[in-house]
Amino acid sequence: MRQSMSKTEDETPVSKTRPSPAKPLRAALAGERQARPPIWLMRQAGRYLPEYREIRGRAASFLDFCYKPAFTVEATLQPVRRFGFDAAIVFSDILVIPDALGQTVAFETGEGPRLDPISDAAGLAKLLDEPDWAKLAPVFETLDRVKTALPGDVALIGFCGAPWTVASYMIAGRGAPEQAPARLFAYRHPKLFAELIDRLVDASAAYLLRQLAAGAEALQIFDSWAGVLPPAEFERWCVRPVAALIAKVRATAPEAPIIAFPRGAATQLRKFARMPGVAAVGLDTAVEPAVAAATLPEPVALQGNLDPLALVAGGPGLEEEIDRVLKGFGTRAHIFNLGHGILPDTPIAHVERLVARVRGR
Ligand code: CP3
Repeated sequence: MRQSMSKTEDETPVSKTRPSPAKPLRAALAGERQARPPIWLMRQAGRYLPEYREIRGRAASFLDFCYKPAFTVEATLQPVRRFGFDAAIVFSDILVIPDALGQTVAFETGEGPRLDPISDAAGLAKLLDEPDWAKLAPVFETLDRVKTALPGDVALIGFCGAPWTVASYMIAGRGAPEQAPARLFAYRHPKLFAELIDRLVDASAAYLLRQLAAGAEALQIFDSWAGVLPPAEFERWCVRPVAALIAKVRATAPEAPIIAFPRGAATQLRKFARMPGVAAVGLDTAVEPAVAAATLPEPVALQGNLDPLALVAGGPGLEEEIDRVLKGFGTRAHIFNLGHGILPDTPIAHVERLVARVRGR
């Protein structure tokens, strides 16, 4: 457990007045291999934590929760306080971008996101030209407040969804098997789909820059549905838009360390690993660490990739998987993480065990 972090966001900040000590996550993103890799977990704030469920129960809806810094500051800090992770990721969701662009977004309890689907040019034309920044102001306030409350060696991560992944929800209106509705739409209406993707590139770049300005020290781009596209479509809807998004961010913030997570990209991972401005690639559960270490170009750092189900299961299976991940990356700069988000039924004790083992205790 971190000693120096304030218990609530109301207590005195600890880190703004001190010189910032070295941050293991930032070192890994600079390509430095560490004897004990830094560790954080995708979706590390959330339903597996009783203290999250407690404050979540006080909000009228998930989006209401996302837009109230009194909730999101606390939710961002909870996992760092409990487990001493090397990074905090701002509590929000990738679908605040469609919401800020004027699309109707809601989260049905137990069912996931529901959006008013975009099905034609008229639907696209209804979107705002740029996000309603006033709506997103709570995200920036959260970053600013979390930054002052974090221990000096913990890095603060901002994020957004990749254009393809966000667009897939905007078209289907929900998560759909293999995101088939958006894939069909992209084949049938490539020009319209390209227009949507371009708007998301612009909106997401501006959003990430504002997160940096508010205190984010690293950025992750979640392309959770990269793996469903065949190669030509992958190139067109995943690789090029993410490259354009990163180029736009780096035109203003050339030093921003960026983690790209193209889940399911498999043999096409190297297209992300070679992209200018990508400091690390997130590997999903199916990637063999030794193969990634041998084939992805240096100095890109590798993040991943413990199976979230091994973390649910615990026991000897978990220990073996942790060791497999620790050994597999060889001499590469490594950031320990899961291969996808932590699952709601993950026991706290297993996360404690994971952190202890990764830290060699
Ligand atoms: O990592 C963190 O701790 C920060 C918080 C975070 C959330 N969503 C909170 C959340 C992050 C980084 C996300 C990203 C996100 N959101 C992704 C990309 C990562 C991934 O898992 O693939 C995607 C695809 C979404 C969209 C989304 N949000 C879905 C499909 C769902 C419903 C499914 C589910 O997991 O419940 C959400 C809801 C959501 N986002 C919850 C949380 C904690 C659960 C809702 C609740 O607590 O009431």
